[in-house]
Amino acid sequence: MSLTQRFWLVLTAVLVVTVLVLATLGDRLSGVRTPSPASTTTPDGLVRGAPGMGDPYLPEAGGGGYDVQHYDVTVDATLLARELRGSATVTAVARQDLDEFHLDLLLRVGRVSVNGVPARFTQSRDDLAITATRTDPGRPAIASGAAFTVAVDYEGSPEGASLPGTPAYYRTGEDFLIAGEPRAASLWFPVNDHPRDAATMRFAVRVPRGVEAICAGRLTGRGPDPDHPGADRWVWQVDAPTVSYATFLAVGQYRVEQGRTDGRPFVYSVSTRLTAAEQTRALRWLRKTPAAIRKLETHLGPYPFSGMGGFVPSAELNWGGLEVAMNPVYDPRAVGTESLLNHELAHMWFGDTVTLAEWNDMFNNESLTSYAEWLVTTGSSPAVNFDEYYFGSARSDRFWRPALSDPGLNELFVRVYDRGPTVVHALRNRMGDSTFFPFFRSWAQQHGPRSLEDFRRAADEATPEDLTGFFAEWLDQTDRPEPTAENGVPKR
Ligand code: TRP
Ligand code: ZN
Repeated sequence: MSLTQRFWLVLTAVLVVTVLVLATLGDRLSGVRTPSPASTTTPDGLVRGAPGMGDPYLPEAGGGGYDVQHYDVTVDATLLARELRGSATVTAVARQDLDEFHLDLLLRVGRVSVNGVPARFTQSRDDLAITATRTDPGRPAIASGAAFTVAVDYEGSPEGASLPGTPAYYRTGEDFLIAGEPRAASLWFPVNDHPRDAATMRFAVRVPRGVEAICAGRLTGRGPDPDHPGADRWVWQVDAPTVSYATFLAVGQYRVEQGRTDGRPFVYSVSTRLTAAEQTRALRWLRKTPAAIRKLETHLGPYPFSGMGGFVPSAELNWGGLEVAMNPVYDPRAVGTESLLNHELAHMWFGDTVTLAEWNDMFNNESLTSYAEWLVTTGSSPAVNFDEYYFGSARSDRFWRPALSDPGLNELFVRVYDRGPTVVHALRNRMGDSTFFPFFRSWAQQHGPRSLEDFRRAADEATPEDLTGFFAEWLDQTDRPEPTAENGVPKR
């Protein structure tokens, strides 16, 4: 691993930890408790979905009792005072009877309707509780299994809105960017903000003429706003279900390069606040995206999205990159780092398509992605990296803690980038290449939420041997697995 690679990993890890510590502190101080994920009935007989998804690390994120299918979000970014005005339609399927359910949104809500009927709502912090109106007083407003739509009109400044601890809002002059993990989407649209609920999305953003709006997905429209003379409108579509943290909104001055290659459209966007030389360098680097995807496809199978791209703002971010679906975000200082480009693109499979069931499954995202990065990056050797980490960290307590199967919110991103891929390489050693590579590929070709337990089971099923002990050693323990063949450690 090169010094630059290491620099980005360490920087990302340090900042992410700081952010998460702040996030937890914020939650503690404001007294958030773990809600029950089960549905309840209010004294007046209304059926309520759980106020959060009940994630072990972020219990209050999202809401229970339904699955979102699609977000159709329209945002007006032409207002004064840096306010946004939005109207979003969320299409969902009820997983239980529902009168009341919860979305996440930090901006002020003006009006909500469910299936076209005005609904009551209350807001507290990023929680939006909606009570649908019963059309038949004797029956819940939404029956289990029914599809329903929620239309939300809202406005406010995401700059002032505070999502506990997570700095996901960046401003440079009049340009702004909203992006972050694990949470950022509720700064600008109503969302079931948990990775277990992937959905397709459409974002239409109105901007002053000559200003660009960049989002997740494929650019499907740009030009004069049909409803608003004098303004432009940018339309982006994510046509395969993805997770809410793999989205972003950037409004500002960008150089946008569009085209088609390998049968897919691409869009590269680079801030014109960067110097001309920096813009050129960033674009040259982003243009390596199709070749990187082709290389990843040899290990992971067909690329899961209909478009590709990359985005470089002028703001210096708290992290090297973010795996925004079809359109990864890169810190301007990371431009030129081949491993980071490979990393974010590998996330199009691991994270954006094979999604997290819970935040404590982070190994499935970052460690499998990092291993794919080890496989395809020029000059990188997984076997050399394995030796360096396994033998080089023999006496480092810090390297072997925390357990990868339950790192805790504060250390979620700490060891998944180095010890994580080391585990994957040990698994490859243990399985042998002829078993490992088909397994790795078939895992990458799945869709929807998968837990770390699912990963262990799938690996176990791919071999005639029992891998229970192997995984217990590598994922549940907090010391170095013994250098045995069972643990996938080659003799030296
Ligand atoms: N998932 C990002 C990556 O590996 C890194 C990351 C961790 C991050 N925490 C974040 C990005 C918070 C943005 C915000 O590519
Ligand atoms: Zn990553």
